[in-house]
Order: sequence, then C-alpha cells, then structure tokens
Amino acid sequence: MDIRRVGVVGCGLMGSGIAQTCVQAGYETIVSEMNQQLLDKGMARIHSAWDGMVSKGKLSPGQVEEYRNRLHGTLDLADFAECDIVSEAIIENMEEKLRLFPALDRIVKPDGLLLTNTSSLNVTQMGAVTRRPEKVCGLHFFNPVPVMKLAEIVKTISSAEETIETVKQFALSLGKTPVLAKDTAGFIVNILLIPYLTAAIRMLENGVASRDDIDTAMKLGCGYPMGPFTLLDYVGLDTTLWAAEAIYEEYKDPFYAPPPLLRRMVQSGMYGKKSGKGFYDYQ
Ligand code: 3HC
Repeated sequence: MDIRRVGVVGCGLMGSGIAQTCVQAGYETIVSEMNQQLLDKGMARIHSAWDGMVSKGKLSPGQVEEYRNRLHGTLDLADFAECDIVSEAIIENMEEKLRLFPALDRIVKPDGLLLTNTSSLNVTQMGAVTRRPEKVCGLHFFNPVPVMKLAEIVKTISSAEETIETVKQFALSLGKTPVLAKDTAGFIVNILLIPYLTAAIRMLENGVASRDDIDTAMKLGCGYPMGPFTLLDYVGLDTTLWAAEAIYEEYKDPFYAPPPLLRRMVQSGMYGKKSGKGFYDYQ
C-alpha cells in the first residue's frame, strides 16, 4: 500500500510528536484537536521544535517552510477522509477510543488503516467497533517521538498480515525501529517500564531512599538517561497511572496495582512536567 497522506487525532505531547515526525519523513500530515486552543498549543510545540532545529543549524529555513506546508491542523475529523493511515493519540480512556474508532471508520476511505498509539489499552476492542478490524493495529511511539527510535507494532487477533507489513514499512520510513507485540496490556515496553516506575514510587513511600538518591542511583548505576522520578514527570503521572490501571485491570495481579501516592498526585493535578509540578517543580 502506498502511504501518502497521514492523519493524527490529538495534538498533545504524543500526537504533536507523531505529526512532526510524519511531516519530517515527507508525508502530507493532518492533525486534529477538540478545540482551537488545544490545536494552537500543539502546533506551536511542533513549530518551536523546528525553530530550535534551525537555530542549531540542523534545518534550513527553506526546509522548515516545506515542513510547514505539509502540516495541516483541523478541528473536523471529516478532513481525514482521504488519509491512507490515521493514527489516534487521544486521551488514554477506553470509552473515548471506542467512540472515536467507529467515527473514523465512517469517515476514512475504506482501504485506510486505523492505528492507535495507546500505551496499554486493548487494541482488539478498538478494531472490533469498526467494520475493518483487519485494518486496525497499534503503533506505539515513545516520548519524545521525534527522538526515540522505537515503535511497537501491536497485532490483534484480527489484524491482517498485510496491515502489519504496511505499518512496519511506515514505521521504518519514519526512521523508527519496529518491534512486534501481541495485544496484551503493556505490550513489550510498558509491561516492563511501568512496574519499574511504580516500584520507585513505592520505594519513596516506604522511605527506603530519597527521590534524588533513587534518580541518581538508576542514572549512574545503570546508565539510564533519566532516573525514574525524572522519567515519571517526563512521561506524565496521569499517563503512567492510566497505563498502570490498564495493566492491573488485565492481570489483576497486585504487583501491577498503581501505588496510592501516584493516584493522589494525579488527583491533585500533579501530572509532571506538563502541569509544572510532579515529583519535581518546573515553575
Ligand atoms: N523534539 C525534537 N527533538 C528533541 C526533543 C523533542 N521533543 N527533545 C529532545 N530533543 C533532541 C534535542 O534537541 C537534542 O538534539 P541534539 O543532540 O541534536 O542537540 C537531543 O534530542 C537530546 O536532547 P537534550 O540534549 O535536550 O537532552 P538529553 O541528551 O538529556 O536527552 C532525552 C533527552 C532524549 C529525552 C533523554 O533524556 C532520554 O532518552 N530520556 C528517556 C526518555 C524515555 O525513556 N522515553 C520513553 C518514555 S516511555 C513512553 O514514552 C511510553 C509511554 O507509553 C509511557
């Protein structure tokens, strides 16, 4: 399948990163948001990333102009009708996803592929509410999307081999290394990463060590680019909580249950870097 036009639903941290990456790979890209304010915020994030690349001499102003012309923002899902691939990166809420997929199914041309960037939710169920479950799979990116080299492809029991092959080629064309996982909560990365992050929170709750010492230990002891609390703030505490809940819901193993402190921080609006406060302050 020849991919030319890509749609991205949601222009938050992940959606804007996916849209930016698609534009840079040469795709005509349309990205949607629920309202103008959110769309402006997401588009500004992309434009400022490109401005940063120009000031570092990694992009010419001419290339940025070309990128800007390939990126289109919209508030209307109907604009995705002619997209070859539509990837959703909306909130990690199953009800929202189950409302979105039938809507996309009605709008997007019949041979278009419908992808989800979900980090842990059930992809099979998203495909099942469309009339094209064989054209639905997961393509999970990592934050910051333009930088992180991995893309997890999530194959449901209904995804066609042809869909997986097309998505694999698409991921490669974006400069990502694809890995393939079955549709089980957490796929490959989050089933390993989320318990690590929640274990760090429990360690802090239990007074084993301080936030800074735990971060330093994992950075210097294991060569990780960020310690767990810096990474939690970077990924978003809300996103981490939703992922932990989805994984716990699937396996019902207390090992995966989100720690009380994580839930309370999210309930208090402490989402990490994006809200200005998490385990660290960003004001
Ligand atoms: N857009 C474009 N480029 C970006 C960027 C962004 N949002 N953020 C960073 N960069 C670029 C910088 O411009 C810089 O480029 P240069 O080397 O050419 O100048 C390069 O990336 C490195 O950035 P910095 O120098 O600012 O900082 P670091 O060297 O500390 O790297 C980092 C930043 C890449 C974020 C690194 O700290 C890292 O790898 N952290 C771990 C991130 C991680 O684990 N992500 C996965 C989270 S899990 C997830 O997303 C899944 C979800 O489902 C939970």
